Amino acid sequence: MTPKMEEALNKQLNAELYSAYMYLSMTAWFESRNLTGFASWMRAQVVEEVEHAMKFYSFINERGGRVKLTAIDGPPTDWDSPLEVFEAAFKHEQYVTSLINELMEMALEERDHASQIFLQWFVTEQVEEEATFGSILERLRMIGDQTGPLFMMDRELGQRTAPALAQG
Ligand code: FEO
Repeated sequence: MTPKMEEALNKQLNAELYSAYMYLSMTAWFESRNLTGFASWMRAQVVEEVEHAMKFYSFINERGGRVKLTAIDGPPTDWDSPLEVFEAAFKHEQYVTSLINELMEMALEERDHASQIFLQWFVTEQVEEEATFGSILERLRMIGDQTGPLFMMDRELGQRTAPALAQG
């Protein structure tokens, strides 16, 4: 693995931890609004993002690289509505997709086959992430200001439970 690739993978590790941090901030916001179903859904997403970060962690180590942790930016803390939260989250996932695509471009340029195969999982995962966030966003747009359907959705999203954190 080239130093350039190693640095880029470390950067993505940070980006995945930032995603976890931002979704935790969103969890706290939902918690403060007593939207416990939305909060529990987002909390499960936090665990997923930490798992994404750990995949990078393990891969860097397996390739004989060195994991170097850097400061994680502070995420936003306030939104006006659940719709605004999901608009921000969806936009963030689109941004993460662009980061993964850039990493894949680099792996192709460097003829780094192992990284290409590793990153393929993330390419597929991002399709899923955008679809999941996108469909919740669409539903929130349809719900608008109606509290009844919002609470029904809150109950439904509460069914998602956080998976246990996988070991490295
Ligand atoms: Fe780690 Fe939501 O992408």
